[in-house]
This record gives sequence, structure tokens and C-alpha cells, in this order.
Amino acid sequence: MYNAIRVRESLYWIGGNDRRLSLFEGAFPVPRGVSYNAYLLLDEKTVLFDTVDVSVSEVFLEGLERLLNGRPLDYLVIHHMEPDHSASFLRVLERHPEVTVVTNQKVATMLKQYFGFDGEKKRIVTEGDTLCVGENTLSFVFAPMVHWPEVMFTYLAPCGVLFSADAFGTFGALGGSIFADGCDFEREYLSEARRYYTNIVGKYGVQVQAALKKLSGVEISTVCPLHGPVWRENFGWFLEKYSRWSAYVPETRGAAVFYASVYGHTQNAAEILAAALSEAGMPEVKVYDVSATDVSELIAEAFRYSHLVFASTTYNNGIFVKMENFLSDLQAHNFGNRAYSLVENGTWAPTSGKLMEEKLSSMKNMRKIGETVKILSAVGEDCAASLRALAAEIAADGERSA
Ligand code: FEO
Repeated sequence: MYNAIRVRESLYWIGGNDRRLSLFEGAFPVPRGVSYNAYLLLDEKTVLFDTVDVSVSEVFLEGLERLLNGRPLDYLVIHHMEPDHSASFLRVLERHPEVTVVTNQKVATMLKQYFGFDGEKKRIVTEGDTLCVGENTLSFVFAPMVHWPEVMFTYLAPCGVLFSADAFGTFGALGGSIFADGCDFEREYLSEARRYYTNIVGKYGVQVQAALKKLSGVEISTVCPLHGPVWRENFGWFLEKYSRWSAYVPETRGAAVFYASVYGHTQNAAEILAAALSEAGMPEVKVYDVSATDVSELIAEAFRYSHLVFASTTYNNGIFVKMENFLSDLQAHNFGNRAYSLVENGTWAPTSGKLMEEKLSSMKNMRKIGETVKILSAVGEDCAASLRALAAEIAADGERSA
């Protein structure tokens, strides 16, 4: 049965939720599910904004037909070709051969690659083009690399609705209200929004900043992303989070201590350091076992905190594999602009500190605090004193940069 929800006036949400998916993109755990949003405008012309993932195509198609109620579908606007949004494209075309596909040239190329679609009924738009559909006029804003190169947004005037593709999306299925003002977004979605942004789009901070710049000064009443809640109120609060994440500016003054430990001694060091950080006045301290925490969460927490500590045992004469993977993932996300400290462990030839420093110093604007604390097998009195001294240096730096 269809489940179409009115967003405002003649605009409707016709998406769906998947709460059984274990890995989004085959990589990211989604324990709270994910929504795939599509929208339908019933003006003098009918306009569908994007389609949905194959997992929710039935409910989407039912909603589409119910709302059209026999009217033709005039336009299908495609903002992003990733299959979690384009998978139902051919099914829409089968039902509505009358539809004109409205999109840009890069999307058109991908439509051919994915679906062999090279139909006559398409309208290729460029930046700033407009399309009047009755009371509303669509304007197209290109947002390349927010998340893929073909991405664009649509701004609907005069009502001020922004269709923002992956931007301002979040992991987490929708429950009850589809609106951010219909739930406690900060409690229910913020951590998943951060994990979604940093892992999916985080590499492209420069391009996200460019897209945000295009939107500055634009009067936005409603933001309709492709995942997660629709924004009608207090959008500036979320926009500020996006501005920070995309500029790689820490969101929270605090320390995240990431450790890789085989027999518990490096964990012991991390916990001594974390306790000392807290005692020294660091406002928030978090500790993560990189072997027991999904790397997508580690990435999100690294983006969040101002001060990071990496503590790793030496393994195969290198960095312990889980920590090495995490650091490589940070590099791949163009991560930077942080204060960091290091703790290494090794029984006969500790090398992880030097190797972690090589990786971290290759990232942009990384600032090392204190000397690397070296553990030889287990934490002794001298080592514990060094950890406490390092904690005092980190906390003092946090205080200075507050
Ligand atoms: Fe939700 Fe980049 O697709």
C-alpha cells in the first residue's frame, strides 16, 4: 500500500525505508536503517524528483500512481545517478513513456551507461536554467562531487524548496514524522548524519563548500534531501554543522583516543591517558578500540573532535592492521586540520609511532602535540608518568584553542 506524505502545498514525499540492509554501499553498517526519498510536485505540470533504491520501489511506484491519479507524468528530474536513487528509473519509464527526463549532460551520459537510455524525451539543463511548471519554477544549481560529478540541486520558487540530493542527508530510517522538526533530530539523527556526511561525502569538502557558497543568500524554506528527514525549521543549525564538517573544522573541543591493542597493554595506556585528559580538564574524552569499532564511526569521531590520540602496538614491523586501515581511510577522506598525539608499543622493535606519524603528517595542517610515548610491552611507572604528562600538554592546548 502506498505511503505518500504531504511536504507542503502540492509537494509530496513518496520514498521508502529499508531497515534490513546491513551494509549501505556494501561498506557502512546501518543499524538504524536508511530512507530513500523521492518527491512529487502536482502543479500544472507533474514533476517527479528522483526515484528510489530497488528495495523500496514498490511502495514508491504505488505512491506515484496514487498521487498522479491518472494524470500524465510530465517531468522526471534526476539530481544524482547513484543507484540508491536511480534504480527505479526504467520502471518509471515503463509506466510513463510520456515523461521528459530533465537533467544535465553528465547524468545523461550515466543514464546511457547504466540503462542504455538515450531517449529523445530529455531536456538537458545547465547551471542556472529554469523551467516553469505552473505556479512553481525550477532552477538548477550544479553541485559536482557532492557526492558524484553529475550531482545537481533544484531550487523551487516561489516556495523556496531546495532539493539537495545527498547533501543534508543522513543514515537512519524515517519513523513517524518525515520532518526534522517532528523529532529530536540532535538526539535521534545527528550522530548518523555526521557518520553519513563524513564517510560518504567527507572527501569532497572543497566541493561541498563551493555548493554551500552558491546557496548563501538564497531564501530556503524547506530542504528535501535524498536520505533522512526533511527540514522546515531551524535549518541554519544543521547548515552550520555542514559548514564545519566540509571545512574540516572540529565540531567539539575534546579528545578522541583511538587504540589498537593485542593483549591489553596499549589499551591500558590509552585508558590511563584518557583518565588523565579528563582530570586535566578536557571537556569531552572518548576512547575507541579500533578493532571493535566500525571504521565509519572512527572517521566520524575524528571529524568531530579537536584533539586526537592514536595508540598502536607494532605488528609485522608495522602499524597494527586495524589502525593502519583507519589512518589510510582518514587520508582517503582528505582529513586534516587537527591536533594529534601518539603512543606506540613494541616488545623488541617498536615502529608504529614513526609510521603513524608519517601517515598523519602527510595530511593537511596536522599539528603534533608532545613526544610519542613509547611502551615496551607493558606500561611501567615511567611510561604512566609520560602518559600523564602528555595528557596535561594536550589539555593545555585544548584550553588555549578554546
Ligand atoms: Fe545516496 Fe550518493 O547516493
